[in-house]
Amino acid sequence: MDGLKDLQKKYLSLIDSQKDLNLLEEVRVSILGKKGELSLKMRELGTMSPDEKQTIGPVLNNLRNEITDKFLSKKYELEEIILNKRLETEWIDLSLPSRNKSKGSIHPISQVTEEVSVIFSEMGFSVAEGPQIETDWYNFDALNIPPEHPARQEHDTFFLHREKDDIRAPNVLRTHTSPVQIRHMISNGAPCRIIAPGRVYRCDYDQTHTPMFHQLEGLAIDKNISMANLKGTLEVFCKKFFEVSDIELRFRASHFPFTEPSAEVDLRCSWKDGKLEVGKGDSWMEILGSGMVHPKVLDAGGIDSSIWQGFAFGMGIDRLAMLKYGIPDLRAFFDSDLRWLRHYGFSALDQPNSHTGLTK
Ligand code: PHE
Repeated sequence: MDGLKDLQKKYLSLIDSQKDLNLLEEVRVSILGKKGELSLKMRELGTMSPDEKQTIGPVLNNLRNEITDKFLSKKYELEEIILNKRLETEWIDLSLPSRNKSKGSIHPISQVTEEVSVIFSEMGFSVAEGPQIETDWYNFDALNIPPEHPARQEHDTFFLHREKDDIRAPNVLRTHTSPVQIRHMISNGAPCRIIAPGRVYRCDYDQTHTPMFHQLEGLAIDKNISMANLKGTLEVFCKKFFEVSDIELRFRASHFPFTEPSAEVDLRCSWKDGKLEVGKGDSWMEILGSGMVHPKVLDAGGIDSSIWQGFAFGMGIDRLAMLKYGIPDLRAFFDSDLRWLRHYGFSALDQPNSHTGLTK
């Protein structure tokens, strides 16, 4: 029993002298842990006579409770010291001005893509998409551009690598959004009205060309669609996009393998003092290629060309953005220069959408 008194003293002062939480825990384990001194002592109870048990048992229990209490109060004490130290060093000056939150802006291409999509969706067109890596069948053959066709060379195509003994034609980075026409025809059939905005690639680089740029494809197929519908659609589009009530379009006969007849469309404009004005003046600006979908293209898309016909057009989104917002160099679009983006970018809170229509 006297031995227990000594133990009690030893433990209590050992706990009391701790200054570190981790060491305190080590001490606790050495006393109360599974192999702790006191735990072993309690295990010895099992080997004692009933009399001994009756006297020593309660004493050991009390000792264990006392040590546990002591340990807990020491723990709180040390924790409090740590907390007070932190409170002394870490504090917040609520009177400081808040940090500036930098606000991003919408890239002109995203803005124009959104504007154009809103205008066409109001006319009943939905948005379709296709992959940027295409097989040469979708990019060329299905669009009536067979392997020997000179138009293949004109496209400055990027070809993807094939293993040496792989004889399949290489895949390409799509050179235009027209393959989306084929994909949509195959998966949705006729009738249809879609636009397909997206990235396209051609090996070309100067002030008005970058190897990656953006096009918007349009396709409408029905039983009695004509060039007149194409013209009407494009007129409504130009009026809304350039925000002028009077515009004049000029359809110039042209050639695309996938349309017959084909037309390039020019917009009347003036460049007085370097400023573009749409709808007046004596200049014409080419804005897109278009035509009636070639029967071979309908057939490639699994649509019966003796029943259905349609129009298609393709325009450069980047070019539309340059014209509408007076941006002189296309290359700057893709430099990711923050000063440029802040100057030409748009507010994220001021975006056109299909519910509100154009906001500007
Ligand atoms: N795909 C053509 C181009 O990239 C544009 C176009 C699309 C022309 C649809 C006619 C019809 O130049």
